[in-house]
Amino acid sequence: MAVHRSNSGKYSHSNTADPGAPVSTANGPSINRGPSASRAKPTEITPSILEELKAIVGPTHVWTDPEKMESYCHDETDAKSYGHMPDAVVFPRTTEEVCKIVKLANRYRVPLVPRGAGSGLSGGAIPHQGGIVVSLERMNKLLELDTANMVAVVEAGMVTNELARTVEEHGLFYAGYPMSLETCFIGGNIAENAGGGKAIKYGVTGRYILGIELVTPTGDAVWLGGKLSKDVTGYDLKSLVIGSEGTLGIVTKAIVKLIGLPTARADLLVLFKTPKEAIDTVPVILTRGIVPTSIEFMDRLSIQTSCRYLNETLPYEEAGALLLIEVDGTNAEQVETDMITVGELCETRGALQVYVAQDKNNMERIWNVRRNIAEAFKVYCPVQSLEDIVVPTSRIPDLIPELEALSKKYSIQIPCYGHAGDGNLHATLVKDPDMDMLTWKKVEDSCLRDLYAAVARLEGKISGEHGIGIKRKKYFQEIVNPVELELMRAIKRAWDPNNIMNPGKIMDL
Ligand code: LAC
Ligand code: ZN
Repeated sequence: MAVHRSNSGKYSHSNTADPGAPVSTANGPSINRGPSASRAKPTEITPSILEELKAIVGPTHVWTDPEKMESYCHDETDAKSYGHMPDAVVFPRTTEEVCKIVKLANRYRVPLVPRGAGSGLSGGAIPHQGGIVVSLERMNKLLELDTANMVAVVEAGMVTNELARTVEEHGLFYAGYPMSLETCFIGGNIAENAGGGKAIKYGVTGRYILGIELVTPTGDAVWLGGKLSKDVTGYDLKSLVIGSEGTLGIVTKAIVKLIGLPTARADLLVLFKTPKEAIDTVPVILTRGIVPTSIEFMDRLSIQTSCRYLNETLPYEEAGALLLIEVDGTNAEQVETDMITVGELCETRGALQVYVAQDKNNMERIWNVRRNIAEAFKVYCPVQSLEDIVVPTSRIPDLIPELEALSKKYSIQIPCYGHAGDGNLHATLVKDPDMDMLTWKKVEDSCLRDLYAAVARLEGKISGEHGIGIKRKKYFQEIVNPVELELMRAIKRAWDPNNIMNPGKIMDL
């Protein structure tokens, strides 16, 4: 996530010094050997497969050295629980190279794991069965800025913030705003259909993806969609790929829709005595006709932990929770009016203080604290479960009492923050330092089951923006309607007959 990457543990690897020996993805010591990691038949990456990979991308772009590959064995989920070493990491530069890699993997039935920046939060980019990680980081160019059509054509490895900054110089706006925007790639955002901090007004990643170049799981390149605002020409395959967590192919390029740059903006930092008072205010704001850009919720512990991590000071001392509310637009007077209306609304709902930030520096300071909460918790409470529950916005007030009850029942802290205006909260189950790991695992499992049951009662789902990956697979398969699950499996089987494309993610076949 964002700026500070914590250093996770070291991992051994099955690829020993013997160059003649096959590299077995099934024999080596690994971190996570749950049922999902087991395979009926070990897939071997032989020296000759490695030679073929080197012939495709060049020898320096195939890595097998465990030390070099260490950062490719995990994403931003807890590496000790979910991490697993790949057998190789490859760095293609062109779509043609990606096609060749995929065809090779099909020939030998080797798992492929597409990878962006590794900022994911559900294990989607983790090679939990070993195999080959396909890193898109060398495919990072802006290929075209088509101002006449208000689109950018980009390679999948372009950093999201770089895209946003580049188009801003031309008075254009890329509205995606994942919290890891400084590091994450547009390709990863597409794979997860990333949400983020501006989704109330601007929607999530998928709204801005007009077209994608996809390398299918059998190794063919195809453009889906195009520079089009409308397209009902057959099935909407592009939308099927968006959010499919790298299981239906490798996105190599994208046509991204841009809009006019909002020229006026204001952020309100609103202090409430209790989390409940803060959250109760959210549906009230949402139903008054104003469409805020963001309504972010942060309980006291979340903001305190991030401030401590960043050595930042924000005036949260008297508050039990805060809302960070943004309004923006192209009409400064309208933005000012909306800001005042929202501020007054918060006051009528018992806000202790309403601070306004309209200068860039202060706005960025506040958002920096918000963006770094997850990373701060990772550093201070490494054993945790970062959740991503989503409910209809009218039901979001009902979540806080549920979380408080769970916190009491299991005697654990459950700090909470997130995109309250989307009904999407990142409740984080935190292990008590005195609790042993075995107890924690049981507590985590029971607490998650209770939490997901509560979310279902509130007509919600278990992930709003982080995805299922491997972290939530077990629960997802239990909770999802079996008919829906079978449809998903049928799609996966049809697209990926050899099950080599990020296998074992989202669901088992
Ligand atoms: C956030 C990440 C965790 O909202 O999604 O900070
Ligand atoms: Zn989030």
